[in-house]
Amino acid sequence: MQPCAELIVHNIGRLATCAGGVKRGRQMMDAGMVTGGAVAAAGGKILAAGSEGEVRRAVNTDGRTKFIDARGGLVTPGLVDCHTHLLYAGSREKELAWKLAGRSYLEILAAGGGILSTVRETRRAGDEVILSETGKRLDRALAHGTTTAEVKSGYGLSVDEELRALRLIRRLGDARPVSLVPTFLGAHAVPEEYKDEPDRYVDLVCLEMIPRVAGENLARFNDVFCEEGVFTGEQSRRVLKTGLAHGLKPKIHADELAGGGGAELAAELGAVSADHLLHASPGGIRALAASGTVAVLLPGTAYYLAAGKYAPARDFIDAGVPVAVASDANPGSCPTESLQAVFNPACLYLRLRPAEVLNAMTVNAAAALGLADQLGSLEAGKSADLVIWDAPNLDYLGYHFGVNLVRSVIKEGKQVV
Ligand code: NIG
Ligand code: FE
Repeated sequence: MQPCAELIVHNIGRLATCAGGVKRGRQMMDAGMVTGGAVAAAGGKILAAGSEGEVRRAVNTDGRTKFIDARGGLVTPGLVDCHTHLLYAGSREKELAWKLAGRSYLEILAAGGGILSTVRETRRAGDEVILSETGKRLDRALAHGTTTAEVKSGYGLSVDEELRALRLIRRLGDARPVSLVPTFLGAHAVPEEYKDEPDRYVDLVCLEMIPRVAGENLARFNDVFCEEGVFTGEQSRRVLKTGLAHGLKPKIHADELAGGGGAELAAELGAVSADHLLHASPGGIRALAASGTVAVLLPGTAYYLAAGKYAPARDFIDAGVPVAVASDANPGSCPTESLQAVFNPACLYLRLRPAEVLNAMTVNAAAALGLADQLGSLEAGKSADLVIWDAPNLDYLGYHFGVNLVRSVIKEGKQVV
């Protein structure tokens, strides 16, 4: 007996399934394109995806089956934004003038601005303010095609404030259609009160925060901003190893503003992902390929930092590192909640083909969250998360920029946009 579909999306012009698992090397060019496709779902999962004929043969329908006409448009998996800092209060538009006057990101941070100014605003804000500001951002992310997002803490930087941030991420994920994956980023910056004794702050992260976060099961991953002037390689290793001992898998902000051996450290610890990587060394790239760590590239941040430098995406692909692309949505170095907005810079400045970008924003991004077996591609058994685009083909997503091309979003088989 064939399963009965609750939902059928039909009359798809071009269907990109991204099927076939995590993509490396030349596989990145294969987005599983089908002309004239359909997708069937039930119970929040995909029953079948492929040509309209195949899908119709694979499933039954009854009076309750809902049909959605894609009107000849492009359909892809829902976007997976595997690196965001969406939970915070306030904004930092005043830093734009400082940037234009020539002050660097790290100069602004060292002067107590940057991340630390968002920490002050977030600490001051009540739960309801953070929930409503972040909720609005999540709604906007969803409207632009993001169906799953990783969200980091890191604007609390005290035991109570970091735990509060992670609890708020959980509440938002429970209440909204976008699935959220929480990451603990207590080591995002050294807070003002530990300015002169950063190692004591690392003690606090390792001895108090990580055991509490793991004990209350508040995060899946443990991340650190490993960068000259923020946390050293040694401090980062200690934070990530402590997390591992408590069952938190490592992620790392690595080699963003300068090369600092972050990629090598990620590989040494078997991190699930290493992120940014603008200045990764050739040895670091080889090490990531060997460890199977996903390189998460964030071209929106490179664009917004305006330093004229982008991650060497082709080197990662040629070395066999699985590449993902995320937004890095945050109030300082990439103030957008739209992963879709990063598609065009990923093509133009990472020099990726549209098929490579789509794999990087879906199946490989799911791998960067340890979820590639559950979502990120349109295959039987995976979560029925998909986007119907107001676009005739995949190239169009890299081409028509600065406007929202989403026509409809389906999350776990339900039309939510
Ligand atoms: O990934 N690099 C550190 N953290 C963020 C920026 C956060 C902020 O500026 O508020 C990033 O770029
Ligand atoms: Fe980040």
